[in-house]
Amino acid sequence: MKTAAIIGGGVIGGGWAARFLLNGWNVRVFDPDPEAERKIGEVLDNARRSLPGLSDVPLPEEGALTFHAEMADAVQGADWIQESVPERLDLKLKVYKGLQEACDPGAVIGSSTSGFKPSELQEGALRPEQIVVTHPFNPVYLLPLIEVVPTAANSAEFVAHAQDLLKSVGFFPLHVKKEIDAHIADRFLEAVWREALWLVKDGIATTEEIDEAIRMGFGIRWAQMGLFETYRVAGGEAGMKHFMAQFGPALEWPWTKLMDVPEFTDELVDLIAGQSDAQSGMHSIRELERIRDNNLVGMMRALKAQNWGAGAVLNAHDAALKPGALPSLDQADLSQPILTLARAVPLDWTDYNGHMTESKYLEAFANSTDRFMEIIGCDADYIASGGSYFTAETHIRHIDETHAGAKIEVRTQMLLGAGKKLHLFHSMYEGDKLLATGESFLLHVSLETRRPCAPSTEIEAALGRVAEGQAGLPYPEGAGNAIRKPA
Ligand SMILES: NC(=O)c1ccc[n+]([C@@H]2O[C@H](COP(=O)([O-])OP(=O)(O)OC[C@H]3O[C@@H](n4cnc5c(N)ncnc54)[C@H](O)[C@@H]3O)[C@@H](O)[C@H]2O)c1
Repeated sequence: MKTAAIIGGGVIGGGWAARFLLNGWNVRVFDPDPEAERKIGEVLDNARRSLPGLSDVPLPEEGALTFHAEMADAVQGADWIQESVPERLDLKLKVYKGLQEACDPGAVIGSSTSGFKPSELQEGALRPEQIVVTHPFNPVYLLPLIEVVPTAANSAEFVAHAQDLLKSVGFFPLHVKKEIDAHIADRFLEAVWREALWLVKDGIATTEEIDEAIRMGFGIRWAQMGLFETYRVAGGEAGMKHFMAQFGPALEWPWTKLMDVPEFTDELVDLIAGQSDAQSGMHSIRELERIRDNNLVGMMRALKAQNWGAGAVLNAHDAALKPGALPSLDQADLSQPILTLARAVPLDWTDYNGHMTESKYLEAFANSTDRFMEIIGCDADYIASGGSYFTAETHIRHIDETHAGAKIEVRTQMLLGAGKKLHLFHSMYEGDKLLATGESFLLHVSLETRRPCAPSTEIEAALGRVAEGQAGLPYPEGAGNAIRKPA
């Protein structure tokens, strides 16, 4: 089990703590603020409800979270030390001096700095080769990007090791090869922010109108293809060259304010703050965080289904976590119902009543049926060879409420598995609490004739093993039920 030390547990440090903790690391926090524990607790509440459900497999067991009064205690023996103290160079340098006297020379010291270059952070350090910029994005527990900015003082092995550790907790490390102020993303965002300030100052648009201009159009495009790929598509069949020929000259027209920065007068600050209050003041920051997280989870899970962008990163993380998550036929205790699903309930599976929405029970039980089919040998290769199971009938009972973030497990009892017939009874639990049951009757079919037929002898043999193993199980209460006509 690995250990991370979080130095500075504010908005960003709290997000790092949650990301490591929920991916199975032990986390030690050093922050002189007496409120740090409460603040990290609140970030963790949000993270527990949103992050585990992004995965379609269970995350590792949570690590242990401890708070330390001395920085040396927090960093001793840690594999990763993440500095997220306020954005002041003198403070950051003082922190590195203190922590390098106590930490393991092999540990990675990552800085969350939004603006400083790694060479500035390494200046005068005991071991400059150990310090690197690892710049995250809020909420750190959900967004995958980390800009990894090293200098020549960091070895290639060190940079690769840092990237491997980041990937192991689900991040997407982007190796920024040349250091600049504000790295790649914040340099870009500052240009956008500057233009937005001008638009408000000049009375062209309100904060709300600017946000609508982003989120109703190009913001959604950017989230899935970024800038250049989006423009390539916009160029039509002639592609990027055509796009540049068409819009390149516009860059010479005064569309933007270029490098001018509007003066930060009290008047401008009040104007923007007032418009922002009018736009969003009806929601507390905690509410806005929850709305943001709900939206992010929904969008990222949609990208997951396309295996694209941030969704492809999530799928790669699932694949790395998967080995050992669910038992194979040889690993399962066949005298008991077999574990066929283990996951957290994603935010986008919940409804207006605040619990898991009806159709998602069917999705969960369908995933269990798919897993059962895999276990008995009806896997992707078998299906490609021309045989599969089709579901003929399903019956679901809702027994208790299930909420976002809940860790659910489905265990499957085979009631019949002979010839072309397969009758499964799934029970969904949170811990010992029974939440729902799902009963399915399936028929094995030939994908060529679309008619029922017997499965392969290998599948028949696997069904025989399950039937023999589970023969001692009682027939489940609730199996064979139907919604009765009132007497
Ligand atoms: N807020 C963002 O959106 C964002 C995004 C990416 C990166 N960053 C960077 O992350 C860093 C932290 O920003 P934040 O927004 O979390 O700030 P914050 O003010 O929310 O948190 C800073 C925390 O550091 C603690 N602290 C102060 N002195 C300390 C010390 N000597 N040792 C340990 N802890 C100390 C404070 O008590 C506070 O809890 C900055 O470098 C910032 O540029 C911020």
